[in-house]
Formats: sequence, C-alpha cells, structure tokens
Amino acid sequence: MKILVVGSGGREHAIAWKLSQSKKVEKIFCAPGNGGIKEIAELVDIKSDDIPGLLDFAKKNKIDLTVVGPEAPLVKGIVDIFRKNGLKAFGPFKDVAMLEGSKVFSKNVMKRFSLATAGFKVFDNSLDAKKYLKETGVPIVIKADGLAAGKGVIIPKTIEEGLKAIDSIMVEKIFGDSGSKVIIEDCLDGEEASLLVFTDGKTIVPLESSQDHKRIFDSDKGPNTGGMGAYSPAPVVTKDIMEEAIKNVFRPVIDGLRKEGKIYKGVLYAGLMMTRKGPMVLEFNVRFGDPETQAILPRLKSDLADIMMACVDGTLDKIDVKWEKFYCISVVCASKGYPDEYEKNKEISGLKEAGEIKDIIVFHAGTKAENGKVLTSGGRVLGVTSLGKDIKSAKANAYKAIGRITFEGMQYRKDIGDKAIGR
Ligand code: AMP
Ligand code: GLY
Repeated sequence: MKILVVGSGGREHAIAWKLSQSKKVEKIFCAPGNGGIKEIAELVDIKSDDIPGLLDFAKKNKIDLTVVGPEAPLVKGIVDIFRKNGLKAFGPFKDVAMLEGSKVFSKNVMKRFSLATAGFKVFDNSLDAKKYLKETGVPIVIKADGLAAGKGVIIPKTIEEGLKAIDSIMVEKIFGDSGSKVIIEDCLDGEEASLLVFTDGKTIVPLESSQDHKRIFDSDKGPNTGGMGAYSPAPVVTKDIMEEAIKNVFRPVIDGLRKEGKIYKGVLYAGLMMTRKGPMVLEFNVRFGDPETQAILPRLKSDLADIMMACVDGTLDKIDVKWEKFYCISVVCASKGYPDEYEKNKEISGLKEAGEIKDIIVFHAGTKAENGKVLTSGGRVLGVTSLGKDIKSAKANAYKAIGRITFEGMQYRKDIGDKAIGR
C-alpha cells in the first residue's frame, strides 16, 4: 500500500510512525512533513491545504490511501474531491467536517441530537452580541464561528475584555470570515478530557482516552496553546464515562447525521468537560488531536492502515482494535515566545541521545532538516514521548529524555502527567 500523509505536525509524525510499522505499507509520502518525518517518509513539497497539488501528486503516484491530519483541508472538502477522482482519503466529507469548520453548525447538531453541552446564543452582528454580553456578564465564553487556528475561543475576565474580543472578531475581523458570526455560551467548570473514536459511519470504535494540557504554563496558567502535552489513558475518563460518551455523544451524532444522509467517516474527536452534572461536550474536531495522538498511537496494537482503510470502505465491524496496557506521555517542547510570535531557525541538539533512552520516541513538529542539522521551524517543536508501566515512570522517563535535548529558548511544561499520578 502506498500512503500519503498530509500535514507537518507532531500528530502527522505519530501517524506516519505508526503506519510505518504496518507490513502492508510499502511506502509513505508526507506533504509537507518535517525534519523528523523525513526519516520514515519521503517528503513532498506541497502545502497541506493545496488540494489540487495534493490530488495531482496522489494521482501520479497511484496513492492507495491519503491520510489527512489537519482540519483545514478537510473543511475545504479534500475527501470529497479525492473520492470524485477515484482516490481514497481517510477523513470526513465536507458536509460533516463542518462539525469543526463551523461552531454554529456544531452547536446546532448538538442541540438537534440532545447532547449535553453549554447553553449558547448565536450572533451575526456585534451590537447585539455586545448587548447580550453586558446583560449576562462574566464568566462567559465567546467563540468565533469558523476556523481560527485554535485561537477563536475567548474566556474574558471582565465585560470590557469581552467587548474588545467581540470587536476584534466581528469588526476588525482578526480571523477573517471566521468571525462573521460569534457564539456566546455559558462557561462550564471541570476537568477536560479528549475522547476520539474511529468510525465508518455505522460502527464506532473508541480510541483510548487522553488528556491534553492547553495552557502554556504549569498548573494550567497563561494563555491557551495548541496543546503542551498529553497522556493516555486519562484516569478522569472512567469506564462509565467512556460508555456514557459513546451512548449519549457519539452514537446520537453519527447515527443522527447518517439518518440525515450525511455519513461521517474517519476520526471524530469530542472535547469533554467533566462537570458536576456529568460529561458535557465543549467541541468536536474532525481529526486526530495534537498532541493527544502522540500519546495514543504508541499504545495501539492493531494495524493502523487496516483500521483507516476499514473506515473508508465501511468495514470497521470486521476489525478488532487492540490496545497496549502501558501508559504513554508526550511532552511538548516549544519555541521561545510561543503561543505568540516565536523564534525560529535554532539548532536542536541531543535528539539522538534522547532517542537512545529506552521507551522514548521523539516526535517532531516544527522542525526542518538542513545541511545535516535539525532546526526549529515552528511554535511547537517536539513531542518527547515515553511509554511506561505507570504514568509516574513514563513521566520521569520523558523528562529524562528532555534533559538531553537543547535549543535556544526551549520551553516546556514540567507538570504533564501530574493530574493522573495518584489517581
Ligand atoms: P474549543 O476550541 O471549543 O475546544 O475551546 C478551546 C478551549 O476553550 C477548550 O478546550 C476549553 O478549555 C475552553 N472552553 C471552550 N468552551 C468552553 C465552555 N463552554 N466553558 C469553559 N471553557 C470552555
Ligand atoms: N489538542 C487539541 C486539538 O487537537 O484540537
């Protein structure tokens, strides 16, 4: 099987790494990839949202399966376009990729299928949104409708901050058309977890649970990022919560959409808040999480290529998906300045020495290989990942490996795993 992985992050490195273990996979290409993926796949210089370019490449190279990592090409309809051209791509079609592409669409789906989620109102003009905010006060959550590279959710501390956020989104249009509408929703309180499932539109197979760490600093302080580390499994997701989420979140959505003629295939990711009233849905993503994937896929025993093909072909009921018992933790090393403007082109040393430690996998995100060196090229640079018999030993081993890695301005959280230890 020839596979094309689309994307360039730590998530795509983990996907390509897992696929490379499949006996059925003879060759992996990755567009555009990064300095680490280069070791296991042939990099192709095509951007992840250049759908005509990717289609042309996949046709010429007779790609059997294209695996789409990020949301932007999915929301643009890459899977539909590939299918029209007789090519298989893992991921949802455009009509359901809107679960991530539009928060208004997503909240309406949640409402239609009676999911537990925060109460919300939709606004298409800033004056009404501001009037409502003044009436409700804080805490409250303001969300841009469309894609905003993970920056479209604001939880203002004061009404003034909220009014400013509405102006930035709807008047200054800092996220472009993504800010034509906003959602203002109730603020939920609790611990978050990520639940992902594989589905072919009928069969649903949960992945092991995981927990991301969104804030930049220890103890969940500072601004939100794409995610600074994750571990799997997440003890906060008990067996009961997992069963409840399948029954009351994933089943109603996937079955409900199918009854409306919309078949969801691929991975569906629900961000859940464990509130006092039980798990409530914060958001849907229509792809693997980053960095959750780096902590989940090392625990997958089964062949990822088989699972992905079965999702595309509608035969997931024939696949037995098995998981390793061990724990896995992935700690993100980021560039100085991230999540704001960050430094680039810093040489990374110690990668080989870190990788030599038992049970360590160093997934690359924002890196590039140049003249025999590995340089930083993005905000999130590496996902230093460790397996372990328990979360404590996995954590200790991951931080031991980080101790061998250096680049100027490197920052990372020191508390990934702590929430799970002793639970
Ligand atoms: P989203 O892009 O919808 O995942 O939101 C990003 C982050 O904002 C989530 O991971 C939560 O930490 C936070 N968030 C989103 N919606 C809410 C809510 N209704 N209440 C509290 N926090 C929220
Ligand atoms: N880790 C959060 C996300 O992938 O959206």
